Amino acid sequence: MKAAAAALAGCLVCCAAMGQVATASPERGRSLLLQRQDTGCVLCHQIPGLPAGGALGPSLHGFAQRSTLAQARVQVADARRFNPQTIMPAYLSTEGLHNVAASYRGQTILNPQELEDILSYLFQPSLATP
Ligand code: HEC
Repeated sequence: MKAAAAALAGCLVCCAAMGQVATASPERGRSLLLQRQDTGCVLCHQIPGLPAGGALGPSLHGFAQRSTLAQARVQVADARRFNPQTIMPAYLSTEGLHNVAASYRGQTILNPQELEDILSYLFQPSLATP
């Protein structure tokens, strides 16, 4: 029951995210992926088309071919839904966080538009490895 509720909450996050987004921009996604301070994606991942990244997380080369957009959306919105012990931050959830500085409380790292921008970069056909 608890798992089902969590899954439903995940879906609601994602549907809300999709509903609020007009047009996703891979260019904006690229600059978000590169921000070491705000998103930190490149600190943990090698990302196709970007300068060398970190190795705390898996390389995202070929990722679009082995995943789906819906799965990737959940992974970035709240990686804990796939792995409760993950070190990857939950970018579109504030649920269950503790020791959050007062000025950041209740705020997600990304907004729904930014999440879609990042996904549109990762799923660009031109990044597909042959
Ligand atoms: C602190 C390190 C860290 C940061 C920062 C981070 N990730 Fe991750 N990421 C991981 C790890 C570790 C995994 C492997 C799955 C797990 O352990 O939960 C992962 C998995 C993923 C996956 C699934 C990869 C696959 O092959 O299935 C995607 C996509 C992803 N991350 C995208 C991002 C994006 C986009 C950002 C920035 C918005 C980001 N990550 C930031 C550590 C990180």
